[in-house]
Amino acid sequence: MSLVDRPITIALDGPAGSGKSTVARAVAERLSLPHIDTGAMYRAVTLKALERGVGALDADGLQSLLDGTDIDLRDGKVFLDGRDVSAEVRGGPVTASVSQVATNGPVREWMVDRQRRLVGERGGVVEGRDIATVVLPQADFKFFLTAAPQERARRRAAELALEGVLVSLEDVLIGIEARDRLDAGREVSPLRVAEGATVIDSTGRSVDDVVDEIVAVTRG
Ligand code: CDP
Repeated sequence: MSLVDRPITIALDGPAGSGKSTVARAVAERLSLPHIDTGAMYRAVTLKALERGVGALDADGLQSLLDGTDIDLRDGKVFLDGRDVSAEVRGGPVTASVSQVATNGPVREWMVDRQRRLVGERGGVVEGRDIATVVLPQADFKFFLTAAPQERARRRAAELALEGVLVSLEDVLIGIEARDRLDAGREVSPLRVAEGATVIDSTGRSVDDVVDEIVAVTRG
């Protein structure tokens, strides 16, 4: 297969705080590919559900909500029905509910379809939890990024502090571990290492170092 003939697809899965988003963005820039943050899409539908009072486990309610919904990713931003919700989707209420919303089969089906269309013919660096296993099992390259829970919590707490949100490390760790449990334990497309994926443990490693490793693999 020649990578010159068509744009490549790179699947990047991993748990919260593993550095996926930062790494995915940097790899996409280095390889001039679109960056597709599927977590932002689950966060967007969660925001809409919270706004409309639809329960996080109400599969039917969520399905009808999605029937009239448009979620798009452009220029590093996420749009919900045409509205830029990039900042709102990172907030506490959405973060607390998103993994429950993401357990619903109809929500996942809708997302997988939309995500495949977004990747379309342009390819991309696609990050999430089920990219290499479900969304793009034929991806050209598959990576599973992880890091020790304590380090993931430290990174997330530092990110939040930059946004002016002060949360104790312990609370962040509890939140991350709760989401890990839901993501890895759910029935539909649980978070797991796909066959053929390269596992990268980023504990104690810099972003540049991890990005270099991924870019080197894609260049063979
Ligand atoms: O940035 P962080 O890793 O904390 O989370 P995210 O990538 O924004 O994803 C938020 C949540 O959406 C995850 O905890 C999963 O529950 C869900 N998700 C998913 O189920 N499948 C994906 N492909 C992406 C996200």
